[in-house]
Amino acid sequence: MNREVVVSGIRSTGYLHLGNYFGAIQNYVKMQDTHECYFFVADYHALTTHPDPKELKPNVFRVVAENIASGLDPEKVALYAQSDLIEIPELYLMLNMLAYKGELEKVPTFKDKVRMQPENVNAGLLTYPVLMAADILIHRAVKVPVGKDQEQHLEMARNFASRFNTRYGVDFFPEPQVFRFNQDTVKIMSLDGNGKMSKSENVSATIYLSDDDDTIRKKIMKAKTDQGPAEPNAAMPDYIQNLFLLLQLTATPEVTAQFTGAYNNCNIRYGDMKKQLAEDMVTFVRPIRERAAELQRDEDAIRKILKAGAEKARASSAATIAGARKLIGINYY
Ligand code: TYM
Repeated sequence: MNREVVVSGIRSTGYLHLGNYFGAIQNYVKMQDTHECYFFVADYHALTTHPDPKELKPNVFRVVAENIASGLDPEKVALYAQSDLIEIPELYLMLNMLAYKGELEKVPTFKDKVRMQPENVNAGLLTYPVLMAADILIHRAVKVPVGKDQEQHLEMARNFASRFNTRYGVDFFPEPQVFRFNQDTVKIMSLDGNGKMSKSENVSATIYLSDDDDTIRKKIMKAKTDQGPAEPNAAMPDYIQNLFLLLQLTATPEVTAQFTGAYNNCNIRYGDMKKQLAEDMVTFVRPIRERAAELQRDEDAIRKILKAGAEKARASSAATIAGARKLIGINYY
């Protein structure tokens, strides 16, 4: 039976956090038994911010270890480094011919980067969504499990796919859709209420899968709260909603119901809620942190996993490039 093809990637730009876990990895793990899955470390994408060459490998290996520690099984999926699939840059080049400067300049993530690093507005940054589309289309994927922040990039991938199909007159690429289980695509906010949890920003208000127990407790106890609701069943401000979301994701339904009830009756004590959340979070993160640390001690094993992953992924990427070359007319011999 043909299984639906799934692709997703994580940039190797730092330590993974709860946003990466609940926005992406948790879905990867749920899909690995039922779909044909390609998951990769986006090391080319990381180059847009010019990382220190010495840091590239440890960052890539840590992302692999943290994915496996979170439940991803490299036997069931293809887990590889983006730079190991040489077909990706070729498809990226082909798609660049169908991507327009004007539309790329309008992408909100590009505009953010221009604001944040005006001294390094390189072409890789501008064409970031094209490379991302190549990552997805190289396996002709139909589903892409990602957090809310990537939705716009997915829309662009669909546009490039349909432009290619129109230009060459066949339905060669499917239009990939954002995938989520039950609720809306998740966005985990940072604990200070300013933006989202991130690998490189909001570090003291982001919970990392590598944080030790005390760091987790301290970060949660410092999370932004307020005086509490003034009337029963009041709407929650987004930073309170975020704490409830984290509680729902890590605590038992009874605990979540108890604090939701207290909020709705205006007798919530945020101190108690944070203490409870901190303990549930420690219990949640600890096994992932310990397993990831253990895996990272065996570099050889990670190297083997990456090699095997790239080999597994190559069959489909080679077939896509062969097909795309033919359609474009690169078909000389
Ligand atoms: P990256 O590395 O920033 O994030 C990896 C995944 O984690 C999700 N995520 C979040 N979800 C919820 N709340 C948050 N605070 C949060 N922060 C991150 C992201 O949505 C993503 O799913 N461009 C991508 C990497 C990429 C990719 C791809 C993804 C490259 N090529 C092809 C899918 C398909 C990125 O920078 O993700």
